[in-house]
Amino acid sequence: MKKYVIAIDGPAASGKSTTAKALAKKLKYVYIDSGAMYRACGLMSLWEAVDLNDVKALSKMLDRIKLVIKYSEKGNKIILNDKDVSERIREADITRLSSQIAVIGIVRTKMVELQREMGKHGGVIMDGRDIGTVVFPEADFKFFMIADVHTRALRRWEEAKSKGEELSLKAIEQELIWRDKNDSEREISPLKQAANAIPIDTSNLTIPQQVDYLHDIILRGKNA
Ligand code: CDP
Repeated sequence: MKKYVIAIDGPAASGKSTTAKALAKKLKYVYIDSGAMYRACGLMSLWEAVDLNDVKALSKMLDRIKLVIKYSEKGNKIILNDKDVSERIREADITRLSSQIAVIGIVRTKMVELQREMGKHGGVIMDGRDIGTVVFPEADFKFFMIADVHTRALRRWEEAKSKGEELSLKAIEQELIWRDKNDSEREISPLKQAANAIPIDTSNLTIPQQVDYLHDIILRGKNA
């Protein structure tokens, strides 16, 4: 069977990464979390105290960035300049910073270049905001996942709880609204549904239901 390129885009906590991971397992594909790459850029800018308005400093930082996505049974590891940052990049300060750094043109150019390189042989599922519109406009399959904001906030709240963190549901919801707005209103590669993407509202779907839905479409071999 042809090794497809599958793009899954959508707002934060819409179910993209859970679906992409499960689907990659079923299809024996590589899963690439493009958001983790922007998160890693944010973390590196923090490590090096780079001012996001200083294009020169940012460009030097990007020349030195080394990003490796390492496959592991328990989920991919994100290695930034030889350091495992898989957990650190999920913390709230980096979540916000990732969205701030993702509006910057030179950052996006560099990440898109890396993402295209990672996906060039096919057999990949990549999730993010601009995969179907910019990174792989010729992707074999494009999905756009959405869910209402309350459901999405609840998912993040439960995720945090399972890690022993007690967060305010209201605060999570407000942060999601801020991030969606920042991601959708930026000038370069804003979050938007590609014209030929299949929309999926996961508000009332279970994880197996959403995975099976995508899986069936892929097995049928065409996007629509
Ligand atoms: O997992 P979650 O939906 O919370 O976010 P993420 O996919 O890890 O992405 C973190 C941030 O990176 C997003 O809020 C976007 O600002 C940015 N991002 C982007 O601009 N383009 C992508 N292809 C992926 C993420």
